[in-house]
Amino acid sequence: DLYLLHWPGSVPLAETVAAFEDLKSAGKIRHWGVSNFDTDEMEELVGLPSGGNVQTNQILYNLSRRGPEFDLAPWSLQRGIPLMAYSPIEQGALARNARLDAVAARHDATAAQVALAWVMAHKGVIAIPKASRQDHVRQNATALDIGLTAQDFADLDRAFPPPTRKRGLEMI
Ligand SMILES: NC(=O)c1ccc[n+]([C@@H]2O[C@H](COP(=O)([O-])OP(=O)(O)OC[C@H]3O[C@@H](n4cnc5c(N)ncnc54)[C@H](OP(=O)(O)O)[C@@H]3O)[C@@H](O)[C@H]2O)c1
Repeated sequence: DLYLLHWPGSVPLAETVAAFEDLKSAGKIRHWGVSNFDTDEMEELVGLPSGGNVQTNQILYNLSRRGPEFDLAPWSLQRGIPLMAYSPIEQGALARNARLDAVAARHDATAAQVALAWVMAHKGVIAIPKASRQDHVRQNATALDIGLTAQDFADLDRAFPPPTRKRGLEMI
């Protein structure tokens, strides 16, 4: 349904986009997207023939990795290109982070659910948590129902400050 380029590589981007479009025409994929592309790489992409057909950019984004908020997130939102947040629980680390406990207690939720709810509260952002335990899968699904308040966002901003300058896109 959605075929992604894992990260920018040494193959000219125009060739990759042309190949994606060929695969689409042949009915082998429905859509294509990219991953780990920073703003300058997205600019290059959308400037290519058919580059505007990109459906998403999958990036590392969570409370402890807020760099993309500086320019990539607003850039993507303005162009209607969804960001897909990978490792939204920081590979499980945010589930054990006590700085989330107060907000979690207000919602009778877990720290992991708050971390996910926070990512999903951002317009134009999708989250792809990985969970192998059934209770984690259930918790993550119900994180959609958590409505974070202005107070919650303010508390989380204090605990995990937003970026004040451009930082290169991080990867794990
Ligand atoms: N494009 C890229 O370059 C890139 C790079 C890295 C990852 N990814 C993708 O991102 C997705 C997820 O990322 P990730 O696995 O790195 O990190 P993640 O989703 O942030 O964290 C996964 C870890 O969190 C735990 N967890 C999940 N839900 C939980 C909950 N409700 N409470 C407590 N712990 C919970 C999981 O435990 P259990 O498994 O025990 O449930 C697992 O150890 C995957 O699909 C992966 O392929 C993409």
